[in-house]
Amino acid sequence: MSSDESNGVIEMKEGIANAGFEDGQDGDAGADIYEEVVEPGAAHPQPYAGMPKEVLLLYSGQARYRLPREILFWLTVLSTLALVVVTATVIALSPRCLSWWQASPVYQVYPRSFQDSDNDGIGDLKGIQSRLDHFEYLNVKAVWISPFFKSPMKDFGYDVEDFREIDPIFGTMEDFENLLAAMHDQGLKLIMDFIPNHTSDQHEWFKLSRNRTEPYTDYFIWHDCQNTSLGTVPPNNWVSVFGNSAWQYDAERQQCYLHQFLKEQPELNFRHPDVRREITDVIRFWLEKGVDGLRIDAAKHILEAKHLRDEPQVNPEQPPENVTAYWQLHHDYTTTQLGTHEIIQEWRAVMDEYSREPGRYRFLMTDSYDGGEIEKSMMYYGTPLVKEADFPFNFYLVELLDAMSGNGAFSLVNTWLSNMPKGRWPNWVIGNHDMTRLSSRAGKAYVNVLNMLLLTLPGTPSTYYGEEIGMENVNVTESEIQDPLGKFNVSMNRDPGRSPMQWSSDDNASFSKNKTWLPVHPDYKTVNVETQKNASWSTLRQYRALSLLRTAEPPLHRGWMCLVWSDNNTFAFLRELDGFPAAFLVVLNFGAAATVDLSSALPGVPPQLRLRMSTHHPGSGQLVSLGQVRTETGEGLVLEYAAGHPVHSHPAFQDQCYVSEKACYLSTMGILHSNC
Ligand code: NOJ
Ligand code: MG
Repeated sequence: MSSDESNGVIEMKEGIANAGFEDGQDGDAGADIYEEVVEPGAAHPQPYAGMPKEVLLLYSGQARYRLPREILFWLTVLSTLALVVVTATVIALSPRCLSWWQASPVYQVYPRSFQDSDNDGIGDLKGIQSRLDHFEYLNVKAVWISPFFKSPMKDFGYDVEDFREIDPIFGTMEDFENLLAAMHDQGLKLIMDFIPNHTSDQHEWFKLSRNRTEPYTDYFIWHDCQNTSLGTVPPNNWVSVFGNSAWQYDAERQQCYLHQFLKEQPELNFRHPDVRREITDVIRFWLEKGVDGLRIDAAKHILEAKHLRDEPQVNPEQPPENVTAYWQLHHDYTTTQLGTHEIIQEWRAVMDEYSREPGRYRFLMTDSYDGGEIEKSMMYYGTPLVKEADFPFNFYLVELLDAMSGNGAFSLVNTWLSNMPKGRWPNWVIGNHDMTRLSSRAGKAYVNVLNMLLLTLPGTPSTYYGEEIGMENVNVTESEIQDPLGKFNVSMNRDPGRSPMQWSSDDNASFSKNKTWLPVHPDYKTVNVETQKNASWSTLRQYRALSLLRTAEPPLHRGWMCLVWSDNNTFAFLRELDGFPAAFLVVLNFGAAATVDLSSALPGVPPQLRLRMSTHHPGSGQLVSLGQVRTETGEGLVLEYAAGHPVHSHPAFQDQCYVSEKACYLSTMGILHSNC
């Protein structure tokens, strides 16, 4: 700024004149100047250009301006600090939100059997897309689809010919993309079955490995073996899961290759870096397409011992030449070998790369059940520092189906929960495509109570298609058997549990207009989705009601679970959440009708509880006395009561209660917090 005193006008830098200021005046010169500025009729030859710095300083130094300014300044500083502290506290006290794979049951679709859209008698991707409303009805958000990759179908898709192509039986890549988009539009997540352990013998890699084309020569596990006119003498005694030697002689390469499943499913060699890279690339391919999760098939079979020593026989007295069944050996050298976990960790890390956007967490579950050796199964959860599967499938409850009892249920539930690493998320499976149907295995009378168990336990329930309506095993004559395992051993046939989904009482249960690949169960006239939807109460209505209840009631989806009672017939547990006004007692009958007195078993629980739901009827809120809880055969009750002092903090329950994502409820504000 420069001044020109000759005409008493301060001239601004850019030549803007300010008639309101005269330099060199003391005292309250500013006030005079101001007056001069506002004097009526005063000439303003130039537009007013604001208060010059000197005037500003003159005023701002005065107490009446300085004080409020300082007060405002400190108020701003303090409220910013307070905001930071409050935000940090809220973050610190907020419990982690449940991820999508924790909040919903996982529903398994066997694509051959769910819905046929082109009437070739076999289900397909378009068919699945046409049935998305069913998931909405069930309040299910996570759908696992068994394999639909290009495949010669020796093991119905678990023998993959091309990891990047859709089998024409199921549709096209466009059909897949449409299905995924439609699922995402409806808020559904798609979990793919992924089969890294083996390929089909029709896979390009195997064909090239067979004739020793580099770099594929060692993509599979080849070993010298003797092949005589009397048969093959394999390198060791290893047996395939599906029976007989795990080695197959290949005339082209004149060596034996390893297969832990069918001979048409050669084992990939995961000690080969290129194989590791190829499989990771395939994972990326599907994640980039937008797939939300992977179920890793046969995870425990990924590596085999390099030394190829014989596996120990379960019965050492058995003549070795008679050892042909999988259960006759201890699988010390063909399952969960050193290095397996590093591979799963690697895949988890890849999935993490694709999980960075909010709401895009990519979920990983492993098919890695080590029957009887639960510590091995638990290792697939990873460690607090290194992540692996979000959960390994828990098949323990399946044992209950063959020996139903309250004690059995108690012990199987307890086995998983007491061995699970602290803070990890449980899951429960009672049916899948490798098993017979609940209804046929445990008995019709128990289907509802098994579903109630599944949906009221803490953790993620897994439901195989059709179990929500209580489908039964279908009869398949020996000549009709489709399953390769059934062809090897009729008693192991998996077809009965894979029959077409029963949608309605119309022809073929509305699954297809043509002859279906497996027979539709004759009970479809009554056991079907439509009929059960319209009934006042049914297996389906119960499934939906429980699934909705689970979402609606915080104690059920993230509260404590305390084991309360078991005897031959009855199993009872409770679900409670600190601070939440309501808690739930679940009483399930897996035997004969019984009445139990739970009053002394449950300190602090009121003597009267309200019936929220029974497997036998929707429940009308009638009162049930804690001293006399009656259940009929296969009946389950969800009882609600006003929560008092939490049972889990009672010393008698110290070893009986579990929680994964700990949270408490602040009822005054209706929010969850973690300060507990
Ligand atoms: C486990 C799958 O559940 C089963 O169906 C399949 O046959 C084997 N893995 C081989 O992939
Ligand atoms: Mg393997």
